[in-house]
Order: sequence, then C-alpha cells, then structure tokens
Amino acid sequence: MKEKKKNLLAALQRQPTDKIPVWLMRQAGRYLPEYRELRKKAGSFMNLALNPERAAEATLQPVKRFGTDGAILFSDILMVPYGLGYGLEFEEGRGPVLEKIRDKIPVFSADGFFSLTRNIFEAVRLVSETMPSSTTLIGFCGGPFTVACYMLGESADGFERALEFSRDHPAAFESLLSVLVEASGFYLRKQIEAGAETVQIFDSWASLAPPEHYGKFVIEPTKGIIEEIRKAYPGFPVTGFPRNSRPENLYQYARETGITGLSLNTGFDLFLAQENIAAVLQGNLDPLRMEGEETPMLDAAEAIISAMKRPFVFNLGHGLTPRARPENVAALVEFVHNASPPVV
Ligand code: CP3
Repeated sequence: MKEKKKNLLAALQRQPTDKIPVWLMRQAGRYLPEYRELRKKAGSFMNLALNPERAAEATLQPVKRFGTDGAILFSDILMVPYGLGYGLEFEEGRGPVLEKIRDKIPVFSADGFFSLTRNIFEAVRLVSETMPSSTTLIGFCGGPFTVACYMLGESADGFERALEFSRDHPAAFESLLSVLVEASGFYLRKQIEAGAETVQIFDSWASLAPPEHYGKFVIEPTKGIIEEIRKAYPGFPVTGFPRNSRPENLYQYARETGITGLSLNTGFDLFLAQENIAAVLQGNLDPLRMEGEETPMLDAAEAIISAMKRPFVFNLGHGLTPRARPENVAALVEFVHNASPPVV
C-alpha cells in the first residue's frame, strides 16, 4: 500500500501539500470525554504522562477523533525540571505544583535525567509505531526562560519572584538557563531518536523577559537547543512559540534562533507576519472561539486562510481550553482540510 503524504512535515520542509495541515495546541485534554476517562483511570496527570501505553493513547485520541495532521506527544513542559530531580504534581483546579529551586542551581546528568524520563521516550516510540502514516509526530519542550519562571515562581503572581531572582542574581539565572538548554537539548534528541519528526519549543511567557534581556533570556537559549538538535540531526524542523513577544522581538527571534516554523499568538497580524518573517508560519485562531458557536468560529478560520498567501500550518494562537466544544474541533479540522492550500 502506498504511504499517505505527511502534509504537516511537508509544509515544514517547504514542499507542496495537498491540503492545509492542521493540529491544535492542547488537542489532548480535558475537553475530550475520552481523555477525562483515561485521566480518571490513571489517577493523576503524572501517572498518565509517565505510563507509555496511556500517554500514547492520550496522544492519539484527538488524531483518531478529528484526523489532525499532527500528533503532539502527551506530556508537559515541566517534565524537564522533573527530569532534573524537582518534584512535580498537577492538582485538580490548581495546575502544576513544581518543587522550587532553593539555594543552588541544578546540574544536568544525562543518566539521572534519562532514568526519570525514559517512559516518555517509550511513549513516543509507541505513538510512532501505531499512528496513521499521514500523521506527523510532534515532540516538544518548554523554552528555557518559561521553564525557569516555573522553577523560581508562580504564574498566579505573574512570576514576580522569578523575575526578581533574574534581576538580583543575573549570573545564577543565566547558569540556570544554560542547564535548561543542555537538558532540553538532550530531552528533544531522545524524543527524535524515538520517532518525533518535528519539535516545538513552547516559550509561553517569553513576553515577561525584559526587552533589554530578550536576546539573552529567550533568543540565545532557543538557538542553543536548536544547535544541539542539529549536531545530531542536521536541518531538523523546529517550530518556536515565543508567545506574545513584541513584534520587533519576534522578528529577531525568527531571524536568529534558526527555527523552521514560527507559531503566532492570537491576534498577531498575519499581513505583518508574512512581510517580516521568513519562517513557515503557524496559527493563530483564538482558542476561545472553540467554546462558542460554530459559524463565527469558521468565519474566523476562513479569515486566517484567506489572509495567508503562502503555505502555512493551521493552528490556534494558544492552547484549547477545557471548555472547548469537541464538535467545533471536528468542524474546524474538516473546514481547513476542505480549503484550497495557498499556491506556492
Ligand atoms: O495536547 C497537547 O498539546 C500535548 C500536551 C501538553 C500539555 N501541556 C498537557 C497538559 C502540552 C504541549 C503542554 C505544554 C505546557 N504545559 C505549556 C506550554 C503551552 C501553554 O499552554 O502555554 C505550559 C505553560 C504548561 C504548564 C502547565 N501544565 C500548566 C500551566 C497547566 C495547568 C493549566 C491547565 O490547563 O490545567 C498544566 C497542566 C496540563 N498540561 C494539563 C494537560 C492536559 C491539564 C491537567 C490534567 O489533565 O490533569
């Protein structure tokens, strides 16, 4: 039987696609009844994410239900601190509870990290072996700046303590970023070895980096991870998501990090993006649209498709919420797949 085309991978490689590829950030999660059931059986998020069979099942749930072009590994950006030895739990209604850095910056040991995270790579392998041939397997990690924010502070107070630490102890903060670059590079290489065909770096809080330090805190660490990956896998496609960065910072990020794709946040102007960014663009429907009526949601999707004059990856501008309606996701994927891809 002829293998079906991987449209998502083709788009990232700037090859022609027969349909516009689409996947959605947080496509596996609480808005899906089958996820809630699996999550209940597992008992906790960690028992789900660190069990290869269950994590593979969660990864494939949205692919089976909706036919999205990408399967994103079911895991979390905080698995890197977990692999460095920090306690991690996810409390119902409260989000992640991560053990904080006390007085010393962690050191990275490949053996120690691997022994805590090996099941994640096993999950990647299982997905890779069982997914449809037209699906592209997406690995991921967090941006070092965002992960450092979670290791030093709390999103509830705008990561005030983390930012204070970066001001008061600049050398320690930079060594933390270096350790995270090393650990994330290792983590992504292991995912790729296990079958990930592209990876995304989620720097969800990049906009909190002070503008004068954006290069040091966001661009350089991202570039470091990409260099690590490409030493082993030359040309490997990487998408960056420095969410809500200022336009000048975003353009600089796109020019200097080496990313292949750039994921745009909700509201980022698509004409400006196409004028100023050479990377393959991804985005950027407002995830809140997925909670509402179908017609305005599809109108907003159509506005994105008609604004895009070059090949792109359809996605949201941030993750799906627990209140997203699965019927909307089904309608959106069908709509995008029926639209004509922009001509190259
Ligand atoms: O489907 C997918 O996209 C894959 C899985 C995935 C999760 N988290 C699963 C998850 C991915 C790619 C992430 C990334 C992630 N995690 C980010 C970056 C993207 C973003 O949303 O900005 C961040 C900042 C985190 C940290 C995190 N994890 C938070 C703040 C929370 C709590 C908020 C929430 O939505 O509950 C989580 C928990 C989490 N990660 C859940 C899931 C499915 C929900 C917990 C559960 O089901 O018990």
